[in-house]
Amino acid sequence: MIWVKIMTIKFLSTFQPWLYLSQKEVLNSSQLHLSKLYSQHGGIMDMVESGYRKIEWAEKHMKVIGRIREIYSKEKPLEGYKVGMALHVEAKTAVLVKTLIDGGADVAITGCNPLSSQDDVSEALRDMGIKCYSKRGMSEEEYYSALNKVLDSEPDVIIDDGADLIFLLHGERQALAEKIMGASEETTTGIIRIRAMEEEGVLKFPVIDVNNAMTKFLFDNRYGTGQSTWDGILRSTNMLIAGKKVVVAGYGWCGRGIAMRAKGLGAKVIVTEVDEIRALEAVMDGFEVMPMDEASKLGDIFITATGDKDVITSQHIRNMKDGAILANSGHFNVEINIPDLERLSKSVREVRGGVTEYDLGDKRVYLLAEGRLVNLVAGDGHPIEVMDMSFSDQALSVKYIVENHEKLENKVYRLPDELDRFVAKLKLESMGVRIDQLTEEQKRYLSDWRQGT
Ligand code: NAI
Repeated sequence: MIWVKIMTIKFLSTFQPWLYLSQKEVLNSSQLHLSKLYSQHGGIMDMVESGYRKIEWAEKHMKVIGRIREIYSKEKPLEGYKVGMALHVEAKTAVLVKTLIDGGADVAITGCNPLSSQDDVSEALRDMGIKCYSKRGMSEEEYYSALNKVLDSEPDVIIDDGADLIFLLHGERQALAEKIMGASEETTTGIIRIRAMEEEGVLKFPVIDVNNAMTKFLFDNRYGTGQSTWDGILRSTNMLIAGKKVVVAGYGWCGRGIAMRAKGLGAKVIVTEVDEIRALEAVMDGFEVMPMDEASKLGDIFITATGDKDVITSQHIRNMKDGAILANSGHFNVEINIPDLERLSKSVREVRGGVTEYDLGDKRVYLLAEGRLVNLVAGDGHPIEVMDMSFSDQALSVKYIVENHEKLENKVYRLPDELDRFVAKLKLESMGVRIDQLTEEQKRYLSDWRQGT
């Protein structure tokens, strides 16, 4: 239907722009910001159509959630429920939104980061009649206003990425928390904060930790961040990585992926860590490990992926070589201390899209994507096939909350193992990969402690 609508509008707009405009205004009069779209993108048709096309491309490659969508379309497990979402609004997210809607849900969505949403996708969602409040490059005030608009829809279930909606529901919007059946959190940083709330006994509803689903972190954080961080860096710098010294701060799931792909691109990789086990793992994986104080003198490219603050500060920046490039893939823009960078600099200018030059007098260093998630701000975020699994986990998590919230306490729960495995099974099927099955005898052998040599 959407394509019929688009093609009709396209046909009309080709010959009679005024006719197209009036049709569009009728369709979306309250939600579209026509003047801005016209001035920036040379026509609203381009913008909405570009959004639809991106979504169509993502849908084509999201076979797992596609399967879940078929089931949801028939069974309507979310009928009558409202879902409030804060996620990076781009094409893969739109496929999740459409899946929830096909399952019967009423959805309101905004971005979970002021710079990571894609306006064409947001416009396409609005064109579908979905309550979507995201815009790329929001001020902090606009960002929180959009989060509040999502909460104004009085959701039953929350999908969050970084826990900003969940915080609002424990602060100025706590009156709404009573109604929340549960939430589903996407990322490490959000989960760390929500677990701290659980420990303090202040958490007001159950939260499903989608981040720790195996079909999420093993693939999304590692292979997704690993590939897309480099995509963002390459797009913004157009530089060769082979032969460069790349410093990866944090050897967690994201750091492992970033370091692995840096090695594959021919870089010499240095890892910095604060955790002995992870540091040891990085050594055994063949990387140099040292404190940032030392690494800061050697690196050509620095990438933070710790979820921590002040990983790179003035003491490190002073050590850096002329031309050093700084990028962050952790959730918040606090890993590289940008105020420190500004204090040390005599002048600041943008030298390429998303590349800011800080002139320190004796050298220049370059910050990518304003220190925000480089893979989302300078690229399209994670590869589609990876988000297919993460968002399948999210779709299943929402259904799980709706069906089980009365049994759940105000705690953090992992996504149930059978749902995690269901996603893995669908993914293997979609790839045409078959695996062996345990025989009855093997099952007995594996569960019987009496069977020895
Ligand atoms: P993780 O907990 O597996 O790994 C973080 C690692 O950083 C740990 O090994 C920790 O010991 C280390 N670390 C902490 N403070 C450090 C410091 N000062 N110096 C060096 N190492 C330090 O977390 P994960 O899953 O790798 O996530 C990392 C960050 O990336 C989080 O903020 C998460 O929300 C974010 N994330 C970003 C994604 C993206 O699309 N860019 C996707 C998934 C997660």
